[in-house]
Amino acid sequence: MPIYHRLGKIPPKRHTQFRQPNGELYYEQLFGTIGFDGMSSLTYHLRRPTQVKEILSSIDVSPKIAEAKTIKSRKLIGFNAPPEDDFLEARKALLVNATVQIGVAAPRKSLTDYFYKNADADEMLFIHRGTGTLKTFLGNISFEYGDYLIIPRGMIYQIEFDTEDNRIFYTESTDPIYTPKRYRNHFGQLLEHSPYCERDYKLPTDLETHDEVGEFTMKIKKQGMLHTLVYASHPFDVVGWDGYNFPYGFSIHNFEPITGRVHQPPPVHQTFETKSFVVCSFVPRLYDYHPLSIPAPYNHSNIDSDEVLYYVDGDFMSRTGIGPGYISLHPGGIPHGPHPGTYEGSIGHTKTEELAVMVDTFSPLQVTEEAVKIDDGKYYQSWLEK
Ligand SMILES: [Fe+2]
Repeated sequence: MPIYHRLGKIPPKRHTQFRQPNGELYYEQLFGTIGFDGMSSLTYHLRRPTQVKEILSSIDVSPKIAEAKTIKSRKLIGFNAPPEDDFLEARKALLVNATVQIGVAAPRKSLTDYFYKNADADEMLFIHRGTGTLKTFLGNISFEYGDYLIIPRGMIYQIEFDTEDNRIFYTESTDPIYTPKRYRNHFGQLLEHSPYCERDYKLPTDLETHDEVGEFTMKIKKQGMLHTLVYASHPFDVVGWDGYNFPYGFSIHNFEPITGRVHQPPPVHQTFETKSFVVCSFVPRLYDYHPLSIPAPYNHSNIDSDEVLYYVDGDFMSRTGIGPGYISLHPGGIPHGPHPGTYEGSIGHTKTEELAVMVDTFSPLQVTEEAVKIDDGKYYQSWLEK
């Protein structure tokens, strides 16, 4: 997160004595990434953040692969993924490779009886249905329909949902999730031609400091395992912090579309980037205004990347048989494009209400057993002329 933020109370000089009212020191922690080279925050705790009491269990939660190598276009019915009470068990990884897991989740219950940390990956949670609060040791972020929540690796968090009807599209990325570099200046500030700016971010607020000792369960995801640890003090015991490493939210509804006289390519929709994939937001917008323009996209070969589209709302102009929560996979190696009728049918239309999230990966994706369960099975033939 390339902007500076601070909450609570911090000492005027880093790495110096900072005392509690009773005279004891606060415990400083550098919460950083990429060794000491990535973004970091300095946090100040009531107690040592290192007090592991027990390690109870370690279970393998790595996705089960059904098809490791595929050239088949697929349509997955995301809302057919079954709801689960537990926030982590609800996650169904569908399309994965060595650096990213892409999936959906329909958690019914809030995650409040334990704490969670993903030590492997930055998480992006896209909220399709549901409202609530992301609670972290660096403050809280309220969320609603259309929000991206970017949660850097190592963030200890809980999540509270207001109802049981929640639908999330997510990625877990071993590469850090950043804003697109081409939209940032030398200092990290988003430029004028960026489709969004810092003012649009939902930053953490309401830092809660819990002065509690006892037994606090934390589930930590690392190397495909979920480890359950017990800590001796409440993980949310931060009295203040500052820096650049923290979770934030961004609403897809604040993404300002870039349009042109003729069809604009997917990079104009880019919202986030990593070394191994990009995330794009397709939002309601006016169509191309050249008098002979064709609003639907041309056929295209993403020869060396796999394309995943998560359909959120509205009519998707280039597809037929698509509804909210559907996911299409267009694998690299073969071209894809508008369905029969949609290319010609788009001519003359002046705007679209489509809302979708796209994830393009630079390495091929593997298809999981969970994906096969919700695969319509015949999408790959859907371009045939009848
Ligand atoms: Fe495409």
